[in-house]
Amino acid sequence: MENNTIQQPVVSMPRIGEKAPEFTAVTTQGNINFPADYAGSWVILFSHPADFTPVCTSEFMTFASMEKQFNEANTKLVGLSVDGLYSHIAWLRTIKEKIEYKGMKDIEVTFPLIEDITMEVATKYGMMMPGESNTKAVRAVFVIDPQGVIRTIIYYPLSLGRNFDELYRVILALQTADEFSVATPADWRPGDDVIVPTAGSCGVAKERMESNDEDVTCHDWFFCTKKLDKETVLNRIIKK
Ligand code: BEZ
Repeated sequence: MENNTIQQPVVSMPRIGEKAPEFTAVTTQGNINFPADYAGSWVILFSHPADFTPVCTSEFMTFASMEKQFNEANTKLVGLSVDGLYSHIAWLRTIKEKIEYKGMKDIEVTFPLIEDITMEVATKYGMMMPGESNTKAVRAVFVIDPQGVIRTIIYYPLSLGRNFDELYRVILALQTADEFSVATPADWRPGDDVIVPTAGSCGVAKERMESNDEDVTCHDWFFCTKKLDKETVLNRIIKK
């Protein structure tokens, strides 16, 4: 029987829990060997569709103005688009010298921005989505831990600017989960109750239900939360 369906190329995409694919690249801050150069730090590797476009400009200004906050949470930022180095340099210079937006001005982007004209890195990371664009990367976000493991992946289409407060919340939540062996519920922010245990056996659950720990509340046998105050979380994670 004839097969009339159009064959799409097989594209492999990195997944949560896997090692971040390795690459070397030229960036606005020199060459990088990824993720080896970032061992010991959390990294947000993110793509944007194109230099000199409005949504991307608003995103870069916002992310750059929050860079110190991310760095204090041991998190480094690395951008990527399929533009060339000289386009990146000219765009970042324009942002610094000319653009004033929502109270942000004179914004210097000091984190590396990868040039990827061959689309090699974008393809490796599943940032190219032909249904959206053949020539531009979508707005992808990969959160990678200090061991080089992908911990969160978020995708946005071309027209939708990202929420950088949410990306900061993701960083704090992932680190809180690791540091305190807990999970974080919907809309969690530091200071909110956390979920215990992350993956419990029946025995552990029964123990929790009968626990006299004043800080633990069990809503049912499978759903227990515990107080974890904001100061304790931030003292562990934020290094000024
Ligand atoms: C933007 O950043 O404004 C943009 C980029 C590519 C397509 C649409 C919008």
